[in-house]
Amino acid sequence: MRISDLIRAAGRARLRARASYSGFKVGAALESRRGKIFGGCNVENSSYGLTVCAERVAIWKALSEGETEFRRLAVVCDTEDLTPPCGACRQILWEYCGDIEVVLANLRGVRARHRMKDLFPEPFDRRYLGRKKSASTKTPTQGKMR
Ligand code: THU
Repeated sequence: MRISDLIRAAGRARLRARASYSGFKVGAALESRRGKIFGGCNVENSSYGLTVCAERVAIWKALSEGETEFRRLAVVCDTEDLTPPCGACRQILWEYCGDIEVVLANLRGVRARHRMKDLFPEPFDRRYLGRKKSASTKTPTQGKMR
């Protein structure tokens, strides 16, 4: 799948955002290694703390459909400055997707590409709990370290 197609999928997901409180619509699209795409939008709630970000909706969908290995995530917002995943989403992305590529885009055609290890340096993860890295989140660098 081309990056522009993944961005388009995130843009489509964004249109389904349930963001009546913040008015801030976010779309995400997560590509698995097998080439399946899982869209996600933010879903807000009158009890604000129950809101779930677009990125996490996409991950929950993918995991619950049996996908375990991921290649890339696109996040689309209508902001001048590209919107990166929040801290909570970075923790979840690291846990389940590892060092994937994160593509940020807005509606004006601006885009940027990052790696999760740059967006989320020095992570707390399963290694500190005495667990080995799961196969899906292992990267060559991390593999060498422990
Ligand atoms: N939001 C996301 O969906 N993803 C992010 O990475 C940042 C924040 C949502 C949550 C809430 O519905 C709205 O944006 C404002 O914070």
